Amino acid sequence: MSAADPVKVMKQEVGKAAAALVKSGTIVGLGTGSTTAYAIEYIGERLKSGEIKDIVGVPTSFQAEVLAKQYGIPLTTLDAIDHIDIAIDGADEVDPQKNLIKGGGAAHTREKVVDYLANQFVVVVDAGKMVDKLGSTFAVPVEVIPMAITPVMNAIAKMGGKAELRMGIRKAGPVITDQGNMVVDVRFDDIPDPVNLEKTLNNIPGVLENGIFVNCADIVLIGEVIDGQPSVRQI
Ligand code: A5P
Repeated sequence: MSAADPVKVMKQEVGKAAAALVKSGTIVGLGTGSTTAYAIEYIGERLKSGEIKDIVGVPTSFQAEVLAKQYGIPLTTLDAIDHIDIAIDGADEVDPQKNLIKGGGAAHTREKVVDYLANQFVVVVDAGKMVDKLGSTFAVPVEVIPMAITPVMNAIAKMGGKAELRMGIRKAGPVITDQGNMVVDVRFDDIPDPVNLEKTLNNIPGVLENGIFVNCADIVLIGEVIDGQPSVRQI
């Protein structure tokens, strides 16, 4: 029998730890991605067992909506509520200041709306997502309305970024977001000032949102496997 995939184990452990933070009677932002999927599953299990009750979820994507329905979490929309108590979401990179790059699943626009609204934003990652500087391993995803793809890519090139249109896998043509837009993944040699880069990218006409999340994460839960033992560290 093969040993369990350590990355999967780390994701499961942080998912479980984040789900344990959800209290009865709260409104929960449900993030997107493979790590958050475990959190959604464990929130559903806690609801089913009666350990918690009266939860409503606000999904950040079609994926989150499907998973919430699968695990029996009732859903609501931002029009029907006046706050979000806690949001749980993954990330593609986390720096020591808890700034993030998100959008590996092309869901960063809705994620930013929900995660920023939450009174407590909990990030769930495996240890491989921790970086000293944003942009070290992951390009910055930028959601762009389709008619503006060329001018936006030209504007990004002038800023020194190398933009690549994200293409579908097992689907011919570009990735289309839940909003019907496209995503360009932008590599920068260096991101010395993420706060400024987030604003500058969003100021290009035709850009809807980018995947730099600054000053918003309250807690980062990091899944680790040390000497074969899974554990969760918090920053
Ligand atoms: C979705 O667009 C992303 O922001 C995800 O939250 C991020 O890519 C993390 O996903 P994984 O947990 O699958 O690595």
